[in-house]
Amino acid sequence: MRIERKWAMPNKWTFKIKPIAEFLREEIVGLTADPFAGKNSPAQEQNDIQEDCGNIDTDHKDALSWLKDKRTERYDTALFDPPYSITQARQYGKKEFASMKYWANCKNEIARIIKPGGKAICFGWNSMGLGKNRGFEMERILLVAHGGSKNDTICTVEIKENYKPIENITREGGGVNKRGANPDPRQN
Ligand SMILES: C[S@@+](CC[C@H](N)C(=O)[O-])C[C@H]1O[C@@H](n2cnc3c(N)ncnc32)[C@H](O)[C@@H]1O
Repeated sequence: MRIERKWAMPNKWTFKIKPIAEFLREEIVGLTADPFAGKNSPAQEQNDIQEDCGNIDTDHKDALSWLKDKRTERYDTALFDPPYSITQARQYGKKEFASMKYWANCKNEIARIIKPGGKAICFGWNSMGLGKNRGFEMERILLVAHGGSKNDTICTVEIKENYKPIENITREGGGVNKRGANPDPRQN
């Protein structure tokens, strides 16, 4: 597996961070979906709940319902750059956006819509990606450090190798208490 670490100033819009923009240029192949597109997505098919995000063709739905409408194995690449914590997710309205179950179900749909051999490119404060349980194999990790008072942005690339559908995940990889909050207070 390829693992690298770079330094860059933080930015609310992940894809504006220079090493991440370069990473995307290297990694994106073919038809690409982005359910949390923000303002700078290179994907051909984009969605973002905020009306002022994306371009003229961007949809503005809840990401999970947008993903559910997509055909199985349609995309060569899918991007996953959601809010990075339950606290951030709460800013976008509905209570269910701020639950681990919601994020797990988004990952299930992303796993479904990627072609066999296609890529999932995920961003966040952990390196879980879609994971082996969904049939994905990690091939690259980029850590982008932003200084001692900030979390790194962790970028992962996984390949869809042995896809297995997963239903109704309520808990992922440990670290989540009964209220759905991460026990590490920096991550909430
Ligand atoms: C971390 S930002 C992504 C930024 C984007 N990758 C960029 O660099 O510009 C998360 C984005 O997800 C959107 N978002 C948050 N909750 C959402 C939801 N439930 N459905 C769809 N979009 C959502 C926000 O509006 C925000 O633009």
